[in-house]
Amino acid sequence: MGASLRAVKTQAKSGSVKILKEYPQQGIKIRCDEVRLRQVFINVLSNAVKFTPAGGQIEIAAALEDNGGLCIAIRDTGIGMTEHEIEAAFEKFRQIDNSMTKRFEGTGLGLPLAKQLAELHGGAIEISSEPGAGTEVRIKLPAARIASAGLPEALKRAVHPALAYAGKPAASEPARPAAA
Ligand SMILES: Nc1ncnc2c1ncn2[C@@H]1O[C@H](COP(=O)(O)OP(=O)(O)OP(=O)(O)O)[C@@H](O)[C@H]1O
Ligand SMILES: [Mg+2]
Repeated sequence: MGASLRAVKTQAKSGSVKILKEYPQQGIKIRCDEVRLRQVFINVLSNAVKFTPAGGQIEIAAALEDNGGLCIAIRDTGIGMTEHEIEAAFEKFRQIDNSMTKRFEGTGLGLPLAKQLAELHGGAIEISSEPGAGTEVRIKLPAARIASAGLPEALKRAVHPALAYAGKPAASEPARPAAA
């Protein structure tokens, strides 16, 4: 995520768009094809920068969901899209005709590709948007792709007394998810 951000920072600076981030849970590891997932982030982030006029703002928030999946939301205060335009945006080679798509380069492949790559990871991309107000793109990855940095608290509590009682180290880490 950090690397993807660096990739779009210069673009954001030249367009005077501010980027804010908020990651409440640190140390989340994702089991993924790193290059491909980075492509997803860069695609979505660069769209947010591209379709947000100067003075606007982009917010990135990553959080674990109740089902154990990860949701990364990228919100902008840009030009937004209608329901119909959101549908078109997911189609290959479709660019919505507006002043900003005319002003910027693009092939209209970014989003369809991002969607496909997210789906290859068992995930999805959702968009909510309002014309003139802004857009939120949610990149979702399933629980099977997530390995948090440490053992979950409940599991730690369950494992520790057992260790103390049996006096055997390490032999009991059955429920631990495979390391990323
Ligand atoms: N954050 C956004 N705000 C407003 N419109 C958007 C946003 N993201 C995408 N769109 C619309 O959806 C269209 C398709 O997006 P997509 O990323 O596929 O193409 P692109 O950015 O124009 O070109 P490319 O990504 O291939 O360089 C865009 O041309 C734009 O009209
Ligand atoms: Mg794009």
